Amino acid sequence: MKSYNDTSRKTAKPKEYEKYKISAIILCAGKGERMGLPYNKMFYHIGEQIVLEMTVENFATSGLFDQIICACSPEEIEDAREFVLPYGAEVCVGGLTRTESVRRALAKVSPDTDILLVHDGARPWAVVDHMRDVIDSAIAFGSGIPAIPVVDAIKVARDGIIVNSPDRNELVAVQTPQAFRYAEIADAYARVIGNYADDSEVYGQAGYAPRLVRGSLSNRKITNLADVYNTNRGHKIGFGYDVHELVDGRDLILGGVYIPYEKGLLGHSDADVLAHAVMDAMLSAGGLPDIGVLFPDNDPAYEGISSTYLLGKVAEMLRERKITVQSVSAVVMAEKPKLAGYISHMRECIARTIGIPSALVNISATTTEKLGVVGDGKGIASSAVVLVGI
Ligand code: CTP
Ligand code: MG
Repeated sequence: MKSYNDTSRKTAKPKEYEKYKISAIILCAGKGERMGLPYNKMFYHIGEQIVLEMTVENFATSGLFDQIICACSPEEIEDAREFVLPYGAEVCVGGLTRTESVRRALAKVSPDTDILLVHDGARPWAVVDHMRDVIDSAIAFGSGIPAIPVVDAIKVARDGIIVNSPDRNELVAVQTPQAFRYAEIADAYARVIGNYADDSEVYGQAGYAPRLVRGSLSNRKITNLADVYNTNRGHKIGFGYDVHELVDGRDLILGGVYIPYEKGLLGHSDADVLAHAVMDAMLSAGGLPDIGVLFPDNDPAYEGISSTYLLGKVAEMLRERKITVQSVSAVVMAEKPKLAGYISHMRECIARTIGIPSALVNISATTTEKLGVVGDGKGIASSAVVLVGI
């Protein structure tokens, strides 16, 4: 981890801001539900860093701020602290809504603050110019709200029917960071009750006039998985293949799912041929040795072991190397039993174990038209390709 305490990385506060005490609240306490990840999007890796660290680094290295407070969910606060402390930022517990998270962070803001910025942690591409623009506006007019023109035609809809078409020339899309005179935004939050989408609304509700500044297309918010596609520095593909013999007296496990059948696959582990193919594809994409090397079949430690457990270990090895799994595509070749009814369970199990949405995992099943080892019913084979971001 880069350390902000490394003095060479610190920027002195620009002269024109020296007489102002400027604080920032960075909101990180959401769930990131629309991303579909099994964890908060603030912990998603883009290249070397997680989103939380990118955002905090941008604020900390700008040299503009006397205080930076990150509002985090209670379950994540300890992990978050580790990432933000090196940048001189502090953490506090957020709330169940965005507005509540702001309220809680406001309680930590130093009372002698002149200008306060509130920023969505999920906007990791906010740079110093964006911050300066809103600060300048807040100093001059009380607030600075970055906005960009709306490109789509926006409609008011009810029950699937468009009921109104507002004039697009009057519409803007607002971003963060939003800057305010601290006394005014603190007063607004003290007087306005209820939940709001952003801080300009709370400020406006209190009777202040939120002032727009020009926003930036580069300062986008990460909301859906598509917002982070192609943000990694590069991609790699890995391929994996495995085959195991079908024998009496063994359970049949494929993709972590137990499948009732008269036979099962023979192997040192649970012989989950699908999990093995996926693991080898992941390891290959990550430039790591294959499962035969990592989990040798003569090592008693792996006798009868769940391949799902091993898949979790492989996912962990990739995560440690900042490698993100972006797509898994696998095929299972079996003459019998029929697998169609189990595919969605396998997808979910593999996705959950790797820590990605199940939409990124695809599995198909095929027979081999009674040809070869698989066609004779002597074994089941599987192959997989995995795309990773590095
Ligand atoms: N946020 C917060 N506290 C909440 C809800 C949201 O601090 N109770 C933060 C999020 O972490 C995010 C920012 O507010 O950085 C903007 O919210 P949004 O993009 O909606 O993020 P999430 O609420 O996490 O995502 P989703 O709505 O998809 O669950
Ligand atoms: Mg939300």
